[in-house]
Amino acid sequence: YLPPTPSSHGFIQCLTENIPSELIFTPGSRNFTGVLVSTIRNSRFLSANTAICIVTVTDASHVQAAVRCGRANGVRLRVRSGGHDYEGLSYRSVRPETFAVVDLADLRAITITTDGEHWAWVDSGATVGELYHTIGKHSTELAFPAGVCPTLGIGGHLSGGGIGSMMRKYGLSVDNVVDAKLVDASGDLLGSRAAMGEDLFWAIRGGGGESFGVVVSWKLRLVKVPSTVTVLRISRTLEQGAVDAVTKWQHVAPTLPDGINMEVLVQGRQAVFQSLYLGACHHILPTLASRLPELNATAADCNEMTWLESAAFINFGNTNTTALLDRSTGRLDSFFKNKSDYVRRAVARGVWLEIFTNWLSTNGSGLLILEPHGGLVGSIPAGATPYPHRSGVLYNIQYVASWSAGDGSSAAMNWVHSLYDFMGQHVSKSPREAYANFRDLDIGENKVVKDVSTFHNATVWGHKYFGSNFQRLATVKGKVDPTDYFRNEQSIPPLLETN
Ligand code: FDA
Repeated sequence: YLPPTPSSHGFIQCLTENIPSELIFTPGSRNFTGVLVSTIRNSRFLSANTAICIVTVTDASHVQAAVRCGRANGVRLRVRSGGHDYEGLSYRSVRPETFAVVDLADLRAITITTDGEHWAWVDSGATVGELYHTIGKHSTELAFPAGVCPTLGIGGHLSGGGIGSMMRKYGLSVDNVVDAKLVDASGDLLGSRAAMGEDLFWAIRGGGGESFGVVVSWKLRLVKVPSTVTVLRISRTLEQGAVDAVTKWQHVAPTLPDGINMEVLVQGRQAVFQSLYLGACHHILPTLASRLPELNATAADCNEMTWLESAAFINFGNTNTTALLDRSTGRLDSFFKNKSDYVRRAVARGVWLEIFTNWLSTNGSGLLILEPHGGLVGSIPAGATPYPHRSGVLYNIQYVASWSAGDGSSAAMNWVHSLYDFMGQHVSKSPREAYANFRDLDIGENKVVKDVSTFHNATVWGHKYFGSNFQRLATVKGKVDPTDYFRNEQSIPPLLETN
């Protein structure tokens, strides 16, 4: 139950009785804007915020207090870990709504334990870069499979799946989450998987952020890597056969040995094939020579280093691993709109030719990122976690349109929307799949009726992100948050008998 008339005053009063006042920032306070923009990654939403306050929690009990004060005073919460949400939903509301931001950036402890296997408890506000750094300094033979960008927040990233350059060997991030702590819609701290039950534990591992509660901490299974790994970067221009190489890559990359992940960045007249191989260069070159001779990979294309160094190298082009701890990298320098697809049947050569010669040379054109599946990520059953894009997926495509301040958005926006329309006939269909972590409000938004998001309207976007797992997610939501306290424009709606 939420009071029909929100009381901002009552909410803030309640917070100050339960949380140190220096952690509460109202729009009138001097540091409000600084705290607000501290983790905003998409400049499109810099001025879109209407939060009544930001609470920079440092303890799970602060999250509990925010939920209880919110419920008692009719104020909803937007939860923010790393602030990378493509549509800014962790700190803005598209609809008029009275809400506060619970910012977890300072709830970021990481603890590694060993008992035969290696584990890490990591708080949601830690970044992926901080996690990588902590693990890599602990041992050069341990790692964790997660995304590439070091400033990603653990909380949002794990809530949506976590695709990255070791997923063919070790699966998604969520395939390696073994326990968690969550504050639920009553403000109770469910301190373990056992306390929350298997259905809720299943749902938070990829069912999207915000829907089920606030995950404060995750227990991760660390994976083994050799002390030397190899990063290969090979470029092919149109003139050097980029079209043939990408066409062939679609068949090869998902069937290479699991230890190699070869993604492709396609932009302008060039395709960059970037690989992480879990081993030494000379072990993988013969495979590449026979499977993808179009790249003509040689030892000169190899960069051998530790896994931790590879995380820095892939981002910064050097092995300065302390840069992985810098939370300010890549901040606020661009406006962007991304969309995603999954490919289950290779796209024809003629289509790639058209993409290179037409779509990538028009005004406003951006970048395509192709992430191969197959290997372990493709062999885990589609219902094991909410992420359904498993068996039969060749790769994920991300379309990235970006522009800088003053450039205007229209050319880039037109480009990404028309390319997405064009690609419809060449990618997965019924549903046309999309990746929950690459949030895209174009594919649908919730409709709220009698203060609850409706199941029926949400199926439009829900089946794209979650396939047949969507109904199970909505059923879990109906059990743990039937009045839909935790919600945003694309949160899981509660499946209730009245829907
Ligand atoms: P943010 O804090 O914005 O949260 C995202 C969503 O999760 C919001 O709805 C939020 O309310 C909710 N949420 C956050 N913390 C929560 C918590 N503790 N409990 C419950 N809900 C919570 N993805 C990928 O898989 N692989 C990759 O390599 C990349 N690379 C990448 C690069 C860049 C530059 C960007 C901007 C994004 C990516 N992504 C990605 C996408 C990324 O995984 C996605 O945006 C995540 O949601 C980001 O998590 P944050 O915590 O940073 O976001």
